[in-house]
Amino acid sequence: MSRLLVCPPDYFRIEYEINPWMRVSNQADPERASAQWHDLMTVLEDRVGALLERMQPVSGVPDMVFTANAGVVDGRRAVPSRFRHPERQREEQYFEAWFREHGYQVTLLEESLYFEGAGDLLGFPDAWFGGYRQRSDIRAYSRLSEILQREIIPVELVDSHFYHLDTCFCPLSGGELLYYPTAFDPYAQAVIINRISEDRRLVVPRPEALRFACNAVCVGKHVVLPTGCPETVTMLEARGYEPHPLPLDEFMKAGGSAKCLALALD
Ligand code: ARG
Repeated sequence: MSRLLVCPPDYFRIEYEINPWMRVSNQADPERASAQWHDLMTVLEDRVGALLERMQPVSGVPDMVFTANAGVVDGRRAVPSRFRHPERQREEQYFEAWFREHGYQVTLLEESLYFEGAGDLLGFPDAWFGGYRQRSDIRAYSRLSEILQREIIPVELVDSHFYHLDTCFCPLSGGELLYYPTAFDPYAQAVIINRISEDRRLVVPRPEALRFACNAVCVGKHVVLPTGCPETVTMLEARGYEPHPLPLDEFMKAGGSAKCLALALD
């Protein structure tokens, strides 16, 4: 059983522009966003078998729907995010309160250290990767490595369309990596090649990376991803996964898709 933290999109809007996908003039349609979010929840619960923990949405923090950025959870420990942009810093108190109210042992990072949670920190059981430069700071990972007692490999993100690690890097349950290499600087690309053997690397083509193919939720053999990524679906099926493509374009207007909308709690 996989537990995921989610937050209903009651107050989801495009109120500011902090990544290249966001245009205040390209407003989200609240009814479509709500329908897309509820369909995602139905698939996660009924098809994937995930257990959903729903947070109370808060007015005035429109990006709180992207719970992947709440922080990172490892066992009973939670490290809440420290957002780079003031627009999202207002969410920190609600995520921290949720972790405390649900019995997590909360460790806070110093205020000067930007870290955007599971949006930037992802991995396999033996090795975690931390995306930095666009949002999280590289320095956050040496601190997180101490706190979590894990090896964290920092990887630099160089394309502003792929500003969080989870927009271009998706570890799968069988040990494969679905990813878009060009989002990383040459050194990070080499590090990934060095750590993940060739037969485990599934490279997403640029048009599908730009449709958020890598922003997928993988639970067991199920992979929930946005629609419009046929080559990715074929690659996943060839490896024995069951892809569940869903329309999530209202959330793409904010620069997010399936994976951003859920935080893995275990
Ligand atoms: N508008 C949000 C931001 O720019 C989207 C966050 C998407 N979350 C993610 N984990 N990639 O911060």
